[in-house]
Order: sequence, then structure tokens, then C-alpha cells
Amino acid sequence: LQEIYQSFEEKNKAAEAGGGEKAIEKQKQSGKQTARERIDMLLDDNTFVEIDKFILHECNHYGMQNSRIPGDGVVAGYGKIDGRLVYVYAYDFTVYGGSLSRTNANKIVKVQKLAMKNGAPIIALNDSGGARIQEGVMALSGFSDIFYQNIKASGVVPQISAILGPCAGGACYSPALTDFIFMVKEKSYMFVTGPDVVKTVTHEELTKEELGGATTHASKSGVAHFVGEDEEETLMMIRELLSFLPSNNMEDPPVVPTHDSIYRQSPKLQTLIPDDPNIPYDMKKLIEEVVDEHYFFEIMSQFAQNIVIGFARMGGRTVGIVANQPAYLAGVLDIDASDKAARFIRFCDCFDIPIITFEDVPGFLPGRDQEHNGIIRHGAKVVFAYVEATVPKITLITRKAYGGAYVVMASKESGADVNLAYPNAEIAVMGAAGAVNILYRSSDETERQKALSEYKELFANPYRAAEKGYIDEIILPKDTRYKLIQALEMTANKTETNPPKKHGNIPL
Ligand code: COA
Repeated sequence: LQEIYQSFEEKNKAAEAGGGEKAIEKQKQSGKQTARERIDMLLDDNTFVEIDKFILHECNHYGMQNSRIPGDGVVAGYGKIDGRLVYVYAYDFTVYGGSLSRTNANKIVKVQKLAMKNGAPIIALNDSGGARIQEGVMALSGFSDIFYQNIKASGVVPQISAILGPCAGGACYSPALTDFIFMVKEKSYMFVTGPDVVKTVTHEELTKEELGGATTHASKSGVAHFVGEDEEETLMMIRELLSFLPSNNMEDPPVVPTHDSIYRQSPKLQTLIPDDPNIPYDMKKLIEEVVDEHYFFEIMSQFAQNIVIGFARMGGRTVGIVANQPAYLAGVLDIDASDKAARFIRFCDCFDIPIITFEDVPGFLPGRDQEHNGIIRHGAKVVFAYVEATVPKITLITRKAYGGAYVVMASKESGADVNLAYPNAEIAVMGAAGAVNILYRSSDETERQKALSEYKELFANPYRAAEKGYIDEIILPKDTRYKLIQALEMTANKTETNPPKKHGNIPL
């Protein structure tokens, strides 16, 4: 028996050696950790349970019959983060470039199914040359199966992708189907076609970093939600994100007790918003002032900065925050901001996270580019997502709420449960100057000035909306934290369902 045990231990060691010393050395030289080191860094100590460690590929072409490495380039299993169950799989670049075979795809699918069946998040650590070239359609079918499970799991368990090396071609679509993508600065890239193909087809010369590096995807394409300085920081950010989320769609997000009093007032908010409505202020300062411990976990901080999204806690409970940002493009809604907000609202709704909307929006961004690229179809996503969401929805108008943008940003009429406004809020079809330009086009200056002050009197305040019940309560800025917490408490047991249907048809 001892021999059998010893042989097992040797086999185990061989499997854990991945692609061998040379390949590991190369991995290290390129500034990357191995798959197993990454998993160890991500999970709580000594919690990883590996499955399918001894699987072998079944390819008999191109000399592959002479090279079968146990585990076949993917390390997978389950473990814990902050004591909570998670599933994880990591491509091992040291084994055939972490390429996807029919066999290791089966392993990934097994873990995906376990995650769904047992209701726990699944994290993919990507670092791969894509479909294993020697396997042809067998490898491609592996990707199809992974995508299929990604789509079935969407809205059931949180799905997270970290890109820690290359991710090219079809391989990009699994991360793209998950809820959050993390990338590492200057070490990871994602593209459907690489720089060489781009050069041949469009004659553009771009580096890998320019085409699909972390900075590109975090600031230009909106594909990446988070960027870490290095692998460790990236993996720690995943742990932190999970602390805000429930393990599945049947569970509530974890409650984190806080010493921050729910009654805490914020005198500094009384002066945060400038007297002149055309002067910007930083909405993030307002958010940070009112949430527990002043801690706001922002998502997509570099993309469409005119809208701010992220998680925080209020009275210990997770909330999703959507906020116009007057400090960037005056907080207008444009195509990218609409997409960013709508997808986040839908994520919160999937996982029972109440949504707080801080609103200061002068309208939709005008212009040919926006119209021709479909601001109508993209802007519609925002109102669709808000109305469809059945979680508690609380809106605070901090300053401007103009036109169609007022309607889509969780107004009372589009289904918000509690609508609050500061006394300086302006709720109107448009700003005073624009309105007078249209209504008094042919009037003289004196008449226009009179009209301007009349309009301001009528609409540059929240009272018309409050008279009609579109605003439930006008509050002072210093009381924001407690007022929001009261609204969250009031709606904590909200039950609302949408009419029976297969699914809605959100404009895409
Ligand atoms: N299938 C099979 N083996 C692959 C592979 C794939 N898709 N991608 C990489 N490998 C192998 C390489 O042949 C190499 O093997 P070796 O060590 O035995 O020589 C090993 O993985 C490492 O790859 P290498 O090219 O040396 O690494 P790199 O860091 O210089 O480049 C890539 C990485 C991903 C840019 C490059 O390997 C590549 O272009 N791969 C193909 C990408 C692709 O188009 N995939 C199909 C998309 S679905």
C-alpha cells in the first residue's frame, strides 16, 4: 500500500508542476504568477479543493499524442473567500499556453454547473492563447459549452473574470458574458483580432496594449470594470467586490455591522453644492459623505465618468449607487453613460441590491455623433432597466433634473419607491435660458428677462413636483444619510413582481 500512496504523491506533484520548470521560469520572467499561486492568493488560506487534477487531453495530432500533462492547462475547484464558498478556475499558461482543449473545457463546465447548483460565485482567472489549435472544432465546441453555462448562470450566481495575461479571439466572449471583468495594468490584453490581423485588414498599427490593454478597456471600450496595478491588487479587489454581493440570487447580500451612526449628520453637505447652478461639484464627495465609513467602492471609474456607479453600505447593508457626475461633462447622459448605468441597474436587480440614485442631470448630450450612434436606443436602456428593476429604488435630486433625463433617472413616474429632493432642486423640461429662447424667441430683451425670472420662480425649485407628489419629501443636505437609510428601511421588505412573460425586450 505504501508504494501506491507514494506513487499517488508523485503523480500529484507532477500534476502540480504544470508545464515544468522552464515554462514556469518564462511565466515569471514575463511578470506573471502561476495558476496555482494565483488561486492561493485569491482564496482564504488552505481552503482550495482541486478537482479533475489528472485529466488528460485526447488529441492525437501534431505530436500531441506524445505530450499529455495532467490537469491539461486548467486548475479548477472551489474554496472560500472571507469564509464564503466560491468556485474558481485558472488557465495555466505554462501548459500549452493555457489553451482550451475539449477536455479542460469539460472541467470548466463541471465547475460552472457546480457553482450554479450550489449557489456560489464563480471566478475565472484568464491567461490563455485561446482555443487549442491542434484540436480544431473540438476546442471551439469547448468554448461554446462554457459560453452556454455563462449565459445560464447569468443572474443566478455572480460571475467574475480576471484577465491576467492574453485573452484573444473567441476566448474574450466568456469574460464578456460575465458580470465583472478585472484586468492588470500592462500585463493583460483582450481583443477579438490581434495587432497583426488589424494591420492587414485596416492598415492601423497598434501595440497590444493600445489595442486591448487594461487602460484601453477601462477608459475607452468599457469592457473592463476594474484595473489593478499588479496581480495581487487585482485579486484583492475581487475579494472586496464579493464582500458586497450575495452568493446567489436567492440570498441577501451580507450585512457588515458598522460603527458609523445611521443618524450621523453632514454639515459640510450644506455647502457642497455651489450657489450658481452652472458651477460643477464632485458628486463622489456627496456619496462618500453619506455612506457607511465614507467608503464607496466605485466600478468603471475611468469610463463614461459623467455617470458614477458602485457599491457602498448604508446601515451595514449593501446598496448600488447610480449618480450623475456634474464634475464631468456637466453630468449629461450620453451613450456610454446610459449603457454603464443600465447594465449596473440590472446587475443590482438580479442580486437583490437596493438602488440609490443621486440625480443632477442637465439632459441628454446633444449632437450628431450621439444621435447617429443611437442615443435614443441607448438612453432608453436606462429607463427600461429602472422600471424593470423590482428592488427598492430611492432617488435624491441634488440639483438639476431636466427633461427626458429627469424621466429616465428613476423618477416617481418610472417606478422609484422614494423620491427626495434638496430645496435647491430644479425640476423642469429644460433650463430657464433654453426655455425662454424657445417660448420668447421674438420678444425683446425686457420681456425675455421678465420671462426668465418667472420661469425660475416656477420651475427652479422642487415645490411644483412636491405639490403633485412626484417628490415625496424635500430634505436638507445635512440630513441625507439618515433620510436615505429611513427610505431603505421602509422598503426593506418590498415585494413587487413584473407581469408574467418570457423576458422583456430591452433595447440593445
Ligand atoms: N493552441 C495551442 N498552443 C498554443 C496556443 C493555442 N491557441 N497559444 C499558445 N500556444 C502555445 C505555444 O505554441 C507555445 O508553446 P511552446 O512553449 O511549446 O512553444 C506556448 O503556448 C506559449 O506560447 P507563446 O506563443 O510562446 O507565448 P507568447 O507569450 O509569446 O504569446 C500569444 C502568447 C497568446 C500571443 C500567442 O501564443 C498566440 O498568438 N496564440 C494564438 C492566439 C489565437 O489566435 N488563438 C485562437 C483564438 S480562439
